Amino acid sequence: MNNTKYYHILTYGCQMNVHESEKLAGFLEERGYVETQNQNQADVIVFNTCCIRKSAEEKILGNIGAVKPIKKLNPNLVVAVCGCMSQQPEMADLIQKKFPFVNIIFGTHNLSKFGEFLDDFNLNHKRIKSIEDEVYINENVPMYRTSGYNGWVNIMYGCNNFCTYCIVPYVRGREKSRDAKDIIEEVESLLKTGKYKVITLLGQNVNSYGNDLSNGISFAMLLQKIADLPYEFKLKFMTSHPKDLTDDVIDVIANNPKISKAIHLPVQSGSNRILKLMNRKYTVEHYLETINKIKEKIPNVSLTSDFIVGFPTETEEDFNMTCDLVKTVSYNGIFAFMYSPRQGTPAATMDGQVSQEEKNKRVNALLKLEKEISLQKNNEMIGKVENCIVERKLDTKDLDCYIVKTDSGKTIIVQCNDLRELSFVDVKITKIENNQLYGEVLN
Ligand code: SAH
Ligand code: SF4
Ligand code: F3S
Repeated sequence: MNNTKYYHILTYGCQMNVHESEKLAGFLEERGYVETQNQNQADVIVFNTCCIRKSAEEKILGNIGAVKPIKKLNPNLVVAVCGCMSQQPEMADLIQKKFPFVNIIFGTHNLSKFGEFLDDFNLNHKRIKSIEDEVYINENVPMYRTSGYNGWVNIMYGCNNFCTYCIVPYVRGREKSRDAKDIIEEVESLLKTGKYKVITLLGQNVNSYGNDLSNGISFAMLLQKIADLPYEFKLKFMTSHPKDLTDDVIDVIANNPKISKAIHLPVQSGSNRILKLMNRKYTVEHYLETINKIKEKIPNVSLTSDFIVGFPTETEEDFNMTCDLVKTVSYNGIFAFMYSPRQGTPAATMDGQVSQEEKNKRVNALLKLEKEISLQKNNEMIGKVENCIVERKLDTKDLDCYIVKTDSGKTIIVQCNDLRELSFVDVKITKIENNQLYGEVLN
């Protein structure tokens, strides 16, 4: 008889959640559970949820509902729901009422208690719902990493910015930076294994790292210290807030070959009036000044951004300013979202809510514009040199070909006799065919 117990985790939302699912998996692995991709085989199913937009919540509620028949077939199945969505007390109540088969409900603030909740439930079979007001962070949680050669490392938790549309500060609490020593130790322990070649530092606003610490360590200093570690790797980070991206950070990125040259700098809108209503604390002029500095100091930079269309009172004119900004910066990629009112945030009750039809129209127009620009950006890449990671050998008959990846995640096919997997090489991009880049290795 097979006594193996299986778990299945469904992760929604941002990289923070992807990483936190590695912590949830850590608790399960520690207890002898083994991962399965098949929900029907699972003994534990965990939903690690997101509530950034209503569409995310609706999808998750639908997926939780779909577990009901599985639970009918396997009454011993344990179902847990956690993360940003269930951190909202009204939502936790709703899940509790709507889905009687959900056994454990908890939030982001007490994620590190998952192991206790699970043990408790397995022992007493009593439903658990625990949403805490205070953030409880435990540094010593087990971790089961599932992101290949990329190691996620939290550098801070929470957000203090209160952009008027955003739910994150309410479900993640206030900014709390981790001790630099702990971060560096964690990074070093990953690099030492030789398995991790990309380290991605995580925070809602990494540029304000250290503001709450008394030791004076800034984000630029932290980047420098990590890049100084004597290993071959790439250092990435997300997300930057334009109001806090200082010159010293740009300089550290520019001067350090180990730091990724892909920068995600969400601007949200190209209209100063809308930026003010969003409480973003910068102007389009200031943003462009930062962008110009970046382009000057990091000539090969790949820039990406997030945009919200249809924020309350956004006019056609405001939206056109956003399109103009997209053209001016000429991004390598953008994410465009339709504004989604989030209960409890100031923008949800602002006058001048924009119709769904208008939001659809604007998001499509923005995505069309982005498609044109990214096509042009791909063509501009020909002749340029990018430092890439060698991902794997391609299964081709005659030629030795490899897939390599740029800092921004674009894949390039190169022909080369012998490349070491997970090493870094300089690649000159030679052509683009059917939207696929090809290149040659220089070193
Ligand atoms: N901390 C990061 C990421 C926040 S969430 C940052 O500040 O950039 C990721 C993106 O979701 C945001 O950049 C924003 O574009 C989008 N977003 C946040 N709240 C939203 C809402 N209520 N409706 C639509 N998009 C939203
Ligand atoms: Fe949300 Fe703004 Fe914080 Fe980003 S900086 S998480 S958009 S409140
Ligand atoms: Fe979603 Fe929470 Fe991330 S709301 S975007 S999972 S911080």
